[in-house]
Amino acid sequence: MSDHELRVSKIRNGTVIDHVEGGQALNVLGILGIDGSEGLSVSIGMNVPSDRLGRKDVVKVEDRELSQSEVDVLSLIAPEATINIIREFDVAEKNRVTRPDQVVGVLSCPSRNCITNDEEPVETRFDVVADGVRCGYCSTIIREHLAEHIDV
Ligand code: CTP
Ligand code: ZN
Repeated sequence: MSDHELRVSKIRNGTVIDHVEGGQALNVLGILGIDGSEGLSVSIGMNVPSDRLGRKDVVKVEDRELSQSEVDVLSLIAPEATINIIREFDVAEKNRVTRPDQVVGVLSCPSRNCITNDEEPVETRFDVVADGVRCGYCSTIIREHLAEHIDV
């Protein structure tokens, strides 16, 4: 980072989600199911200056790695995000998120009539389309506030 100052301390072990679109940090925590009650150490930078994005959010979660389904949903709200795995203070892995074709078993369908909301559980399946995600069963499209539909 060619930013001049480090606003949030480095971490020893865990995951740094960097280059998150400004304003999305709390939704990132929502996707990860983190609300503080689980006791993880979490640091957040919001609207910090970034050469690439102008302003960005950064989320650092200690002692936690992310599952692929979490990364898939993150990519939808933070398409430029970088996921850095930190081990003993070093960046052990750095990956850009990629937009998946589908997200399975992560989002719940907002349509009450959808088969995925019946008593018999059917795993949710959404196709990622240009303007959002589309339920594979009832074709309902979720365009905004994706984080509110996360069901993990
Ligand atoms: N980081 C951290 N703790 C560490 C190492 C890195 O919190 N022990 C953070 C850095 O502050 C940065 C991110 O992890 O936000 C990636 O670190 P690094 O690859 O060193 O930074 P850059 O080269 O700026 O990354 P990029 O090229 O992805 O912008
Ligand atoms: Zn549906």
